[in-house]
Amino acid sequence: MAGEEKTVWDLDPHTRAKHVILRKYLNAWLPKLTRWNGRVVICDGFAGPGIYSQGEEGSPVIALKAYLEHDYQSRMKADVKYLFIESDPKRCARLEQVIDEIELPKTVDVSIFNERCEGALTHLLDFLDERQSHLAPSFTFIDPFGVSGVPLEMIVRLMKHPKSEVLITCMLSYIQRFISTPEFEKHMDRLFGCADWRQALEIVGQERESFLRMLYQRQLESVVGAKYVRHFTMKDVKNKTIYDLFFATNSASGMDAMKEAMWNVDQSGAYAFSDATDPAQETLFTTEPDWNRLFDLLCQRFHGTEQRWTDIEEAIRQTPFRIRKLPFREAAKLKDPRFTIINRKGIRSGTLNDDTVVRFA
Ligand SMILES: C[S@@+](CC[C@H](N)C(=O)[O-])C[C@H]1O[C@@H](n2cnc3c(N)ncnc32)[C@H](O)[C@@H]1O
Repeated sequence: MAGEEKTVWDLDPHTRAKHVILRKYLNAWLPKLTRWNGRVVICDGFAGPGIYSQGEEGSPVIALKAYLEHDYQSRMKADVKYLFIESDPKRCARLEQVIDEIELPKTVDVSIFNERCEGALTHLLDFLDERQSHLAPSFTFIDPFGVSGVPLEMIVRLMKHPKSEVLITCMLSYIQRFISTPEFEKHMDRLFGCADWRQALEIVGQERESFLRMLYQRQLESVVGAKYVRHFTMKDVKNKTIYDLFFATNSASGMDAMKEAMWNVDQSGAYAFSDATDPAQETLFTTEPDWNRLFDLLCQRFHGTEQRWTDIEEAIRQTPFRIRKLPFREAAKLKDPRFTIINRKGIRSGTLNDDTVVRFA
């Protein structure tokens, strides 16, 4: 894998895409979380050296600058604690150098650990457990090269803390390649937190990839217990999977913000991310979402019933779609047979607010 042997390596386009997502998400996350909390934590568990070969910023610097260069920074009341974990001593030393060059205000505290992510997080979580205290609202980025050192159990422990979120790079193409290698078994058992991944050995090609993706999603939902889980498959222009990003959160607004961040990458035109909610019917979204598909999904789910708009928003949150009112209004104006928007007397027709009811055919 590119960069695995070097202290600093070239930035490839798919890492750039990941960085756009990280930056956009933290831009949205920081003002929200710093408004109500005295302290927030941003953890980069596989931090890297903080810099790429042509001087481009690595994820720890991107995460720091999301705060330092934020338009609302002066109005953010919380302290921001950054935890950067990097197991490779040379990369860690380079990261320390890079961070040293950045001027930090008093509200920011950075700790860098030259350790394995699992060890460092276990230490932190044990410490909190002993004191029966909670982790401050946190966002943890888990961005390994491969599959080792990312046990599901670690995610379970992190997400037990009420306002924790994780963004995990899951190298499905890498897993596909090495799934039959005996040395991988123990890492795969720990990654998935179960032995079910072995069923993938009986499946080939795209179906195998979809199976593993849905298994990881299932584990994040059922074992980790995250209320919202969404994976975004990053594909290259040839429609070949590069990697998957899994986002797990218990916050509705967190999920909405992450979808916005993901769509931003999609609009660059270089990538598409796919909806494998129904693995049998994988739909590629390119520049414009297929709203008809959403209307069909909602119609199937709610047919013959009336639903409040807030409940519809919650249903949309469970899909890859972002919450948008305009497509509903436009479809209603064109008398779409699948639904009717019903408002109280005196409210302008087509309005969608919390009291609005939508009747599904
Ligand atoms: C994909 S790179 C991270 C890139 C970085 N997140 C970025 O976007 O700029 C993965 C990094 O994790 C480090 N690493 C590998 N195993 C680790 C472990 N168990 N714990 C912490 N760091 C690890 C590697 O040395 C490498 O620098």
